[in-house]
Amino acid sequence: MEGPFGLVPTMGALHAGHASLVSRARSECRSVGVSIFVNPSQFGPGEDYKSYPRPVERDLALLESLGADVVWMPRPESIYPPGYRTWVEVAEITEPLEGQSRPGHFRGVATIVARLLNSFTPDRAYFGQKDAQQVAVLRRMVRDLDFPVEVVVCPTVREPDGLAMSSRNAYLNPEERKAAAVLYRALTAAKEKYDQGERNAESLRSTMRAVLRSEPLASEQYISAADPESLQELETIGRGALLSMAVRIGKARLIDNIVL
Ligand SMILES: Nc1ncnc2c1ncn2[C@@H]1O[C@H](COP(=O)(O)OP(=O)(O)OP(=O)(O)O)[C@@H](O)[C@H]1O
Ligand SMILES: [Mg+2]
Repeated sequence: MEGPFGLVPTMGALHAGHASLVSRARSECRSVGVSIFVNPSQFGPGEDYKSYPRPVERDLALLESLGADVVWMPRPESIYPPGYRTWVEVAEITEPLEGQSRPGHFRGVATIVARLLNSFTPDRAYFGQKDAQQVAVLRRMVRDLDFPVEVVVCPTVREPDGLAMSSRNAYLNPEERKAAAVLYRALTAAKEKYDQGERNAESLRSTMRAVLRSEPLASEQYISAADPESLQELETIGRGALLSMAVRIGKARLIDNIVL
C-alpha cells in the first residue's frame, strides 16, 4: 500500500486510550495496522499473564469501527518458538521506576516492539503517554538501533474522575474504582504546587505521597519526580519534569504520570 503506514502495538482489551491511538494513526496515515499480543516475556513470574483479559470479538469490532486496515494477533508459540534466544536490552533507563517493580519487563517490551518494527516496517508507531517510561525506553531503542520509524506519543485518555484508562482497571471492584482516582488527584496536587512556584522535587514527591496516603485502599509502589529521558530523580524541578507513580489497589497495579 502507498503512503505512510502507522502501527499501533497493543495487548488488546481495548479501551478509549487505545482508540485514541488508532484514531490518531487513522488521521495521519494511509493505512493503519494494530497488533494485539499479550506478550508473555514482559510479564514477571507472579504477574497476570494468564488472567489478562482477552475479549477478542469486542476488540475486533472496535478496531473495525475505527477503520483499522490490518489487525495482527499472533500466537505466543509463533513469536517465541523453541530455540528463541534473542533479546533487546536497553540499559540504565530501564532500571528505576517500573524496572524496580517489574524486572525484565522492558526487555520483553523492547524485544516485541523491535520485532514488530522489523516485521511491519511502519513509517510511524503510536504509543501512549500513560506509559511514560515505556516511551523513554522505546525512543532510546529507536535512536540507538536506527529504526527508520517516527515514534508518535499520544496524550493519556482519562475517565471523568481523572483515572487514566487502562485494561487493568477492569480488576477494580466499585469501591476500589472510586479509590483509584487518587493517583490523578496526587499528580494534580503536585502540579498545583509547581504552578504556584515550588521547584523542590522532594516537596512535590511529599505532596503526592500525602495525597496517596489519604486513600486507605491505595498502597504506594513508587512516587517519582524525574527527568523524562534519563528517568533519574531530580532535586530541582525544571520544565518537562516527569511526575509519576505506581500504586496497588486491590488486585490492580496502576500507573500514571504528568509532565510539568
Ligand atoms: N489511557 C491511555 N491513554 C493513552 N494511551 C494509552 C492509555 N492506556 C494505554 N495506552 C497505550 O496503549 C498502548 C497499548 O497499551 P496496553 O495494551 O498495554 O494497554 P493498557 O491499558 O496500558 O493495559 P495495561 O494497563 O494492562 O498495561 C500503549 O502504547 C499504551 O501506552
Ligand atoms: Mg499497558
